[in-house]
Amino acid sequence: MGWLNGRVAVVTGASKGIGRALSTAFANEGASVVCAARSEALLNQIVALIHEAGGRATAVAADLSTEEGARLVVERGLEAFGHVDCLVNNAGDSGPTKPVQEYPLEEWRYTIDSDRVIAGQADARGTTPEAIRKSFLERSPLRRMATADDIAYAAVFLCSDHARSISGQCLPVNAGEPAS
Ligand SMILES: NC(=O)c1ccc[n+]([C@@H]2O[C@H](COP(=O)([O-])OP(=O)(O)OC[C@H]3O[C@@H](n4cnc5c(N)ncnc54)[C@H](OP(=O)(O)O)[C@@H]3O)[C@@H](O)[C@H]2O)c1
Repeated sequence: MGWLNGRVAVVTGASKGIGRALSTAFANEGASVVCAARSEALLNQIVALIHEAGGRATAVAADLSTEEGARLVVERGLEAFGHVDCLVNNAGDSGPTKPVQEYPLEEWRYTIDSDRVIAGQADARGTTPEAIRKSFLERSPLRRMATADDIAYAAVFLCSDHARSISGQCLPVNAGEPAS
């Protein structure tokens, strides 16, 4: 018996990275998964993997920075599975590569519209990704970096009945790394 049996989950950004781990984890726990992003071929790959493992999933190619794209994903999810119970708003990209305070309004809106975090900050800070990675490990009390699976299973928990009394909370999955 999976933690998400009978649920339907929309996972945005399902074509790559954390979104693939989320899609797999949700399907393994019994959810039907609406896998959404712009890259149709990559979405078809993850959906095929889920089907091969005996799970249920459908791919929807859409630009989620637009209202039209967001509506399409929900409509296709309803057509495929009849209801939608969980929204995992994971889609995002590296966005503009400069300190936040230097963003023009247009770039700020683009960043917010598709739930993007500011990557490329290594460039903006004049350092390297490896140096940033090293500093994460040094600051983590657990001496590890959170993996995509760590994030996926935290999301599975939050969408399950085990979290039924949790609402409006933040759950950092960051190996105890203090904010900087
Ligand atoms: N990795 C990290 O260390 C880290 C840290 C903090 C926060 N995050 C956040 O976690 C999320 C996933 O990160 P990741 O590392 O897995 O990133 P990733 O590998 O770059 O994947 C980003 C996903 O978002 C999708 N996406 C981007 N813009 C989209 C749009 N306009 N419409 C639809 N889909 C869009 C991409 O798909 P297509 O290109 O196919 O559309 C892709 O599937 C992001 O929101 C990121 O900001 C990541």
